[in-house]
Amino acid sequence: MFEVRLAPMCGITDHIFRTLCYEMGCDLAYTEMISAMGYLCAPEQRATKELMIRGENEPKLVLQLFGRDPDTVAEAAGRICALGIYDGIDLNMGCPAKKIAPSGEGCGLMRTPETAFSMMKKTVAACSVPVSVKMRTGYDRDHINVLEFAGMAEEAGVSSITVHGRTREQQYSGEADWEIIAAVRDRVHIPVYGNGDIFTAEDALQKQAAGHTDGVMIGRGAMGNPWIFREIRDLQAGREPKALTPEEKRDMIVRHYGMMLASRPEKIAVREMRKHIGWYIRGMKGAAQFRAEINRCPDAKQALKLIGQFFENLQEEEA
Ligand SMILES: Cc1cc2nc3c(=O)[nH]c(=O)nc-3n(C[C@H](O)[C@H](O)[C@H](O)COP(=O)(O)O)c2cc1C
Repeated sequence: MFEVRLAPMCGITDHIFRTLCYEMGCDLAYTEMISAMGYLCAPEQRATKELMIRGENEPKLVLQLFGRDPDTVAEAAGRICALGIYDGIDLNMGCPAKKIAPSGEGCGLMRTPETAFSMMKKTVAACSVPVSVKMRTGYDRDHINVLEFAGMAEEAGVSSITVHGRTREQQYSGEADWEIIAAVRDRVHIPVYGNGDIFTAEDALQKQAAGHTDGVMIGRGAMGNPWIFREIRDLQAGREPKALTPEEKRDMIVRHYGMMLASRPEKIAVREMRKHIGWYIRGMKGAAQFRAEINRCPDAKQALKLIGQFFENLQEEEA
């Protein structure tokens, strides 16, 4: 089966957004990345606990860890695994952030393959669930080592890998290199999931038709667009994707808002929903002005009223 996964994205893919994506047909989702050291030092810390929530209706969940030291990461993975909540542990070896990669975490591990190997091996040994690794193509254009790195992951006992087809140096610029992702699949005997620049259902189907990966992982293409998973399902079944109506979009935003309010203090829910709303209404008529109003709006009651009005105005203009 060609799997369609939701990428881990800090600040975006919390249990609520993941639940909405699962409802639309996503096969597998990941937590946002969690610090192994942070977990070991303060497992009860609120921020960490929130990141670790598995929503009631999430059919599966892989927890993603990041860290620098193999023993620390393996110990955290083992303890988390023993909680019996997660279906897998993913090791982040792709994060390009300034606070992460230069200090040897995330994509920084692609510069220290011995450390990365040890981390994978120890984590596999510590866990009773499958361990996967998410990586980039390399640290920079002069050090594209994903083929060797993926081979090493297989040797360490990792059960699948995801490759984002860019180097750390590229961050999110340029185009993801799917040829190198295909070369990784040729190189190893474990499933390989391709990641990078899937923004439409057609993009995903094209990757499936190319037959170079066992599935795809979608990040930015799902922001404000959980329907991408439904559209992919429709195309896979040979159906014309169900058209997305403004009412359906409004109902999703209102529901997302309600779920947010039920899970955190109103002030935080209001702040976090602003970015989601911005993504949901991207490209719609009057979006810029509506976004500005929502961003100024201090409470949920008023925000929900504005959302209702925005969609009513749209209907009136269309009538
Ligand atoms: C805001 C944001 C946060 C991200 N956080 C994570 C993360 O926590 N762990 C991770 O492995 N990748 C993270 N990524 C990278 C994505 O998982 C994905 O690899 C990247 O966005 C490329 O895929 P796309 O072109 O489909 O967006 C993040 C990306 C974005 C845009």
